[in-house]
Amino acid sequence: MRGLVSIEPIALVSLKPTWLMAHGPATPYPEFDRWAIENWASLNNAISCTVQPPLVVRSRSTSRLRCFLLRIMRFDLVTLFPDFFESPLRSGLVGKALQKKIAEVLITNPRDFAQDKHRKVDDEPYGGGVGMVMKPEPIAAALDSLPRCNRRQVIYFTPQGAPMTQNLFKELAHNYEQLVLLCGHYEGVDERVMSLVDREVSLGDFVLTCGEIPALTLLNGVLRLRPGTVGKEESLKAESFEEPLLDYPHYTRPPEFRGMGVPPVLLSGNHPAIAHWRREEQILRTRDRRPDLYQPIPEYPSHPPFVTADQWRVIKQVVTILETHQIRYQITGGLAGNLYGSTWPLQDLDLDIASTDLDRAYQLFEPWAIAPPDRYLDVEFDLILLQLAIDGLMVDLSADQPAYALRGQKRISLKTDLSTAHRTRCWGLPLWVQSLKSLIDYKKILGRSTDLANLRQLL
Ligand SMILES: C[S@@+](CC[C@H](N)C(=O)[O-])C[C@H]1O[C@@H](n2cnc3c(N)ncnc32)[C@H](O)[C@@H]1O
Repeated sequence: MRGLVSIEPIALVSLKPTWLMAHGPATPYPEFDRWAIENWASLNNAISCTVQPPLVVRSRSTSRLRCFLLRIMRFDLVTLFPDFFESPLRSGLVGKALQKKIAEVLITNPRDFAQDKHRKVDDEPYGGGVGMVMKPEPIAAALDSLPRCNRRQVIYFTPQGAPMTQNLFKELAHNYEQLVLLCGHYEGVDERVMSLVDREVSLGDFVLTCGEIPALTLLNGVLRLRPGTVGKEESLKAESFEEPLLDYPHYTRPPEFRGMGVPPVLLSGNHPAIAHWRREEQILRTRDRRPDLYQPIPEYPSHPPFVTADQWRVIKQVVTILETHQIRYQITGGLAGNLYGSTWPLQDLDLDIASTDLDRAYQLFEPWAIAPPDRYLDVEFDLILLQLAIDGLMVDLSADQPAYALRGQKRISLKTDLSTAHRTRCWGLPLWVQSLKSLIDYKKILGRSTDLANLRQLL
């Protein structure tokens, strides 16, 4: 194996995919590990075209190295009932994701590790009482037999665990490469097994007969978030719980079903109006059905005093579209000042948006665009801007990329940091607003002394 260190990755991979498949639980060659890590990028490209893992593997043969090289997520199901998973792992998007090698699922049965001749995996509880308890030794041996990827979590399913949530799925999908899912039965597992477990997770406040159902639920929820599982990643963002809001109602053909129509706005073709309707529905649904989920964000005490009702309508329209389409933004300029209590009237609406979303914003706001996203240069600014005019209000969407304030011959860098924006609400409208401190810094760079004095009083 030492000799391989000098071989080109493509040659190694085309010659040795089966070696990589077969050699687990850990690579016995630290030199190879090190070399592979250094040459990871080219190896990854080469190998992902070559190795065809089976959909579900009932063995412990896949190497830690292979997970690492292929960037595939590894799920180890530790279960007494492997057959349980056969059909669900072959169906729908999960089946496709496994075929596409976005992840692989390996099944390990603790019964295979039982030492006695009856392959016993449960026993009576100490202290008496009903039910059986899963013995610790077969489980421990099954867990010990698994390869250990660097970022791995061992999860035991129990009604006593932390609730399963979308945030948990996100955390697991983005931070780990191996999830070991231990499924309980009977009264559960011997408590000493918990020393081998990283976290306990519950599907909800009820009791099932087995841990396979929560394990499958978690696998499905986590795999769904891995890149490539869901065709359009945008659709991941527009679901319940992505924000603390439920999804809006959906309709499809026919336009009339058993005397029930479709909300007319959805047939109007007016996309801003549709976005607005959907947002309102999300808010109403969440308030009605899950008041526990709907966390009102801090609200400004009153309507900003220098914003007219007509201007507010436009602001609401713009913000609703940005929020619905998950475009990152912050309100800056006069409206931000007004929200913090400044006393200058609103001239126009200034927002910073993520530069990566600029083209998407153009598509959404095209009917009102008076200038497409482009470099905007005048005596004061040099920045990339999309300019709109909506019902008499000028709206400037500037990109969060290097921009400059122009002072004579001088170009002074204007920094837009969307990550420091404050989440707040004003008159029921959720908003991202530039922080007061960064608004002050901005005004300082522009040399707006009156605004500055006004804002500083508000600190
Ligand atoms: C009958 S239950 C054991 C319940 C346990 N004696 C209790 O009351 O907390 C058997 C197995 O099903 C699984 N299970 C049942 N309900 C669950 C839930 N709500 N969340 C996660 N796992 C659950 C666990 O793996 C558990 O070990």
